[in-house]
Amino acid sequence: MDFPHLHEPALSASVDLLVLVVFGDPSKDSMFKAVDGATKAALREAARGESFEGKTNQSLTFWAGGAVGAKRVLVLGAGGKGDLNVSALRDLGAAAAQSANRNGAETLAFLVPALGARQTVAVQHLVEGAVLGTYKFSRYLTSEDSKKTPSLRSFGLMTDAKGARITAAAAKVVTAAVERGKVVAAAMNRARDLVNEPAGFMTPTQLATEAEAVVKKHASLSISVLGPQECAELGMGMFLAVGVGSEQEARLIHMVYKPAKKAKKKIVLIGKGITFDSGGYSLKPSNAMEDMKVDMSGAAAVISAMDAIAQLGSEHEVHAIAACCENLVSGRAYKLGDVLRSMDGTTVEINNTDAEGRLTLGDAITYARTKVAPDEMFDFATLTGACMVALGPYTAGVMSDHAPLAKGWLEAADRAGEDMWRLPLNPRLREQLKSNVADMRNTGDRFGGAITAGLFLKVFAKDTPWVHVDIAGPASLTTVRPHQPRGGSGFAVASIVEYLTRR
Ligand code: BES
Ligand code: MN
Ligand code: ZN
Repeated sequence: MDFPHLHEPALSASVDLLVLVVFGDPSKDSMFKAVDGATKAALREAARGESFEGKTNQSLTFWAGGAVGAKRVLVLGAGGKGDLNVSALRDLGAAAAQSANRNGAETLAFLVPALGARQTVAVQHLVEGAVLGTYKFSRYLTSEDSKKTPSLRSFGLMTDAKGARITAAAAKVVTAAVERGKVVAAAMNRARDLVNEPAGFMTPTQLATEAEAVVKKHASLSISVLGPQECAELGMGMFLAVGVGSEQEARLIHMVYKPAKKAKKKIVLIGKGITFDSGGYSLKPSNAMEDMKVDMSGAAAVISAMDAIAQLGSEHEVHAIAACCENLVSGRAYKLGDVLRSMDGTTVEINNTDAEGRLTLGDAITYARTKVAPDEMFDFATLTGACMVALGPYTAGVMSDHAPLAKGWLEAADRAGEDMWRLPLNPRLREQLKSNVADMRNTGDRFGGAITAGLFLKVFAKDTPWVHVDIAGPASLTTVRPHQPRGGSGFAVASIVEYLTRR
């Protein structure tokens, strides 16, 4: 899909679909009134007939019959101007593209609302919405219908209703926003693909192959992939124990982005990469296991974000590390009561084999800390059901004992339109992780489950500035909205890119 910047009066734009956004009562909108005038009040009649009041998620499609340059007019409701947050903008972009594809439209012109200084950022999010909203995981669908390519090829953006010419500098800013939107959304869609692929295909080895494919695209990226033997030599006893029950070998994926100029900071992104989580001998019931291919969403996010970072550039040296394995049962699988020795020497008694993510991440954190010596470290993990109990399915839990880093991260997430909320790493809960036979055990009791997982990781992060992001809820969704189909969401990619690259 192309996103040209259009400089012509909206009324005369000769496209298949003209898209307008109204904030509440359409009769108060000047563009709506202009189109209505051209159609001899037929648009107003249609709005009344359809009870269209310009509320969020309302839309009105209107066949213009030659009254304006466009064949059809789509009016999208956006509620009050205060409702127009990043997600709402993505929904508008998605709704426009979906409407075009429903009607077989090939070209559309989207009149971007006049939002003053926020208008160029709005362009970015509209573009993201169009790309995200036309995403479909169709690899395993065989019907003719599912193989049809969508009709829309040109999603034009108008930043001025009268089509006034703008300076070359202003046009460049819009082009950059379009580019950014395309890159961020493509990376999110890549993460969605990695998550949506069944675990039977997306094994640790396959995930490493996917990461290698990203690295091949960019001269600024490099990669090393460690197998079980190399991880054993490093002493990664927790990581290897989780994967030992599977026929599929574990893989530690380590990607590096180097900026052209001297790097400001070294920043590590760690992703949980459990390609399937059966729970191990603390076996999950079938309904809880059904969707556990999503347990590599953290890995998918950091691998995919590297693609966007390489395209947009960062002033930092960025490392993405994904500890990938399967948590299965077999004659070789790790057991309850086992005592594992981690890479940093800490011994851990296993009282629940389903609390496997923190074991793999603990060693990945030690690997990052000792091999990279980063200035900042982030981990992304579908770590606990308890985090979903605390915050619901749409909000990630953020834990850190480094207040400024947590603040900087939450601000980036806010700009990227991803819901995140800080939870306290209350040290009193450490009590729950005490063991009689080892330095600690891997699981606490029911209360504060997201936080005890965070406290477990903190043992390995030590004094390195670190933020833990529990994405168990938002990584994969069962409810839909225009820019978000069911399944893998690509969550965290947009925030990572926002944090590491400059607008
Ligand atoms: N991968 C799960 C967490 C999860 C649950 C992710 C639902 C996405 C959706 C994790 O490995 C797990 O099993 N956590 C346990 C921890 C418990 C044993 C302390 C949980 O949340 O029940
Ligand atoms: Mn588990
Ligand atoms: Zn898990």
